[in-house]
Order: sequence, then C-alpha cells, then structure tokens
Amino acid sequence: MKHILITGGAGFIGSHVVRLFVNNYPDYHILNLDALTYAGNLENLKDIEGQPNYTFIKGDICDEDLIKELFSTYTINGVIHLAAESHVDRSITDPLLFVKTNVYGTLNLLEAAKNSWKDNLEGKLFYHISTDEVYGSLGDDGFFTESTSYNPKSPYSASKASSDHFVRAYHNTYGLPVIISNCSNNYGSHQFPEKLIPLFINNICNNKSLPVYGKGENVRDWLFVNDHARAIDVIFHKGTVGDTYNIGGFNEWKNIDLIKVLIKTVDKLLGRKEGASEKLITYVTDRAGHDYRYAIDSSKLKNELGWEPSLQFEEGIEKTVQWYFENKDWVNNVTSGEYQKYYQQMYE
Ligand code: NAD
Ligand code: TYD
Repeated sequence: MKHILITGGAGFIGSHVVRLFVNNYPDYHILNLDALTYAGNLENLKDIEGQPNYTFIKGDICDEDLIKELFSTYTINGVIHLAAESHVDRSITDPLLFVKTNVYGTLNLLEAAKNSWKDNLEGKLFYHISTDEVYGSLGDDGFFTESTSYNPKSPYSASKASSDHFVRAYHNTYGLPVIISNCSNNYGSHQFPEKLIPLFINNICNNKSLPVYGKGENVRDWLFVNDHARAIDVIFHKGTVGDTYNIGGFNEWKNIDLIKVLIKTVDKLLGRKEGASEKLITYVTDRAGHDYRYAIDSSKLKNELGWEPSLQFEEGIEKTVQWYFENKDWVNNVTSGEYQKYYQQMYE
C-alpha cells in the first residue's frame, strides 16, 4: 500500500483533495496532516472519517520531530503539500506567521523528504501546491504562463514564491523529485467566509454590507475547487518530475461584476426582487498593495495532460451558493468558533 502524506487536508482545497484521493484510490493510505488553525475544520471531512485508508494527524508542518517521525513510521511515497496561511489580508497584518508556516514549514517537509528518500528516489514525489499570485500583477492584457518571472507583491505571495524557490532548489541541488502547480483563485463549498465569495454570499443572506475594496475593478480568474482537486490528481499521477503546471479556467471577472452575479443568484434563491441587495455594496478603502489583475494560461496542462475545467462559472456559482444555503450550520459553526470543538469530540 502506498502512503501519501497530504498536508493542510482539513482546509478548503485540501479537504476536497483528501476526499477525492480517499474515495478514488482505495490502495493508497492517505495521511492528512493538519494543525487545525482557524482555517482547518474536520467537519469538512465527516463523510470519510471512518474509511480504512484514511488517517488524520493533528500537527504542525514546522514541527521537526513530528515530521521526521512520520517519515520513519510510514514509507511515504508521495507528499501533496497544501498546508499554508492563505489569506492576503491576514498576511498584511501578520507577515511573520506567513513566513513561518509557508516558508519554514515547507523547508521542514522538504528536508524530511530528502533525508528519508535519499537512498531510493524511485516512485517518490514531492508535489507542492502554489498560487498564481507568485507572478505578481498583470495590466489589462496578457496571461501568466509557466515561464513568467516571479514578482510577488504581497507578504502572502512573497512567502509562497519563497517556498516555490526552495522546492526547485531541492530538485536542482539534491535531485528531489518535485512538481509545482500554480493555480488561480478557487471558489466552492467549505471555503472559510473571509475570502470574497463565501463572505459575500453570507453577508447578502444576512443583509450585511458588502465591503468592496477600492473601486471593485480588480480582476481575478476563478476556478471551481473540485476542478482544482481534479487537476491535482492528474498532475500527481501524470505530471513530469521537475515541471511546473499552471491551473486555471480562463475565467476572469472584475470584482464588481462578480459581486453582481452573487447578488443576483442569492436574491433569486431568497425570493427577493432582482438586484434588491445591490444596496448592500459599500466601497471601502483599498487593500494595501492590491494586485490589479491575475489571469492564468493553463494551455500546458490541457495540451500535455488533458485536464480541462468541468464547469461553466454560472453553474459553479449556483452550486456554491446552494451549498452555503444548505449548510448554514457549517457557516454558523465557523463564524462562532464552534467548529474547533469537533476535533476534541471526535479524536480526544
Ligand atoms: P486554507 O487556509 O483554507 O487551508 C489551509 C490549511 O492548512 C488549514 O486546514 C490549516 O489548518 C492548515 N495549516 C495552516 N498552517 C499549518 C501548519 N503550520 N501545519 C499544518 N497545517 C497547517 O487554504 P486553501 O485556500 O485551502 O489553500 C490551500 C493551498 O492552496 C495553499 O497552499 C494555498 O497557498 C494554495 N492556493 C490557494 C488558492 C485559493 O484560491 N484558495 C489558490 C491557489 C493556491
Ligand atoms: P480574496 O478572496 O481575498 O482572494 P485574493 O486576494 O487572494 O485574490 O479576494 C478576491 C478579490 O476580492 C481581491 O481583489 C480582493 C477583493 N475583496 C474585496 O473587495 N472585499 C473583501 O472583503 C475581500 C475579502 C476581498
């Protein structure tokens, strides 16, 4: 049986990846290592909790002894590394935490993998999950490709860029088999309601104001989270060692236009008059150093590995809004902090 270590598996994207691997690969033993920070929520994985090929480990990727112990207890064949501090606004107020988790934590994993795998690299893979934000900010034209130079501009993207550099350095210096993918903004179920889409769905439902940074003209390229998880599956199994893959759905939206789609979808579901909630839009002070535009060219992934997004954006947004409607308890637990008791009830 292959042991695959997935880090950050209790978070938004990680929980979708863990579920996909546990359900689709009964011959893999999936070890989900997560520190359960504010963003980690084991309720996300209730449905697979008892599966025989799944083990949850509460722990910090920065903990040297723990990571060494994991590599010596299990013959780990692959690492899919998602654990990170992920929110740009938090990185502006607490950059040191981002360096600790995203840079040092990644290095700690790389070091353990290098030392454990050094005598036999056959069939091993360290797959690092990164972001398109490492490339910086675009003007009105053009796309990020795999050869775009790094130019990170926020403490979050600088920490992710640094971790990407270390991953490549371990490949170059020690021959560690690595792959990196850089994905655009994700949306879908189980996203912590601090990021734009879940925050605004929740606020529209509760008639709370919608804080639009600046003029709402910044552009983001949105991908349904399940499509990102599918891409990770394809890249993990078919990607070329040493390569980078950009992941995105050619789906750019100006923030204000996206917000109007959210308003329309939520108002319709609530039986409100079309556009009724537009009055909630409140323009607020812009985010410091706010990147203007991200846009990913994912042609390499399509041409070489055959991956394409499965959903049109409007369908993805409807599914997402529907999920937040049907899972008000999840949102309430997350906003009240109640979800953090789940680990104690289930595992202690
Ligand atoms: P998230 O914040 O929802 O989840 C992060 C997870 O990592 C949480 O479960 C948290 O408990 C865990 N974690 C944090 N610090 C840890 C530590 N020190 N040790 C162990 N676990 C720790 O993040 P997400 O949005 O799911 O992002 C996952 C990964 O994908 C990140 O590496 C992020 O940079 C990358 N990414 C995210 C997006 C996006 O739109 N959300 C886009 C591209 C790439
Ligand atoms: P976010 O979801 O934080 O993702 P990222 O900063 O990683 O792209 O933000 C998406 C866009 O929405 C970004 O341009 C910032 C903007 N935004 C707002 O206008 N208001 C908000 O309250 C938030 C959280 C984001």
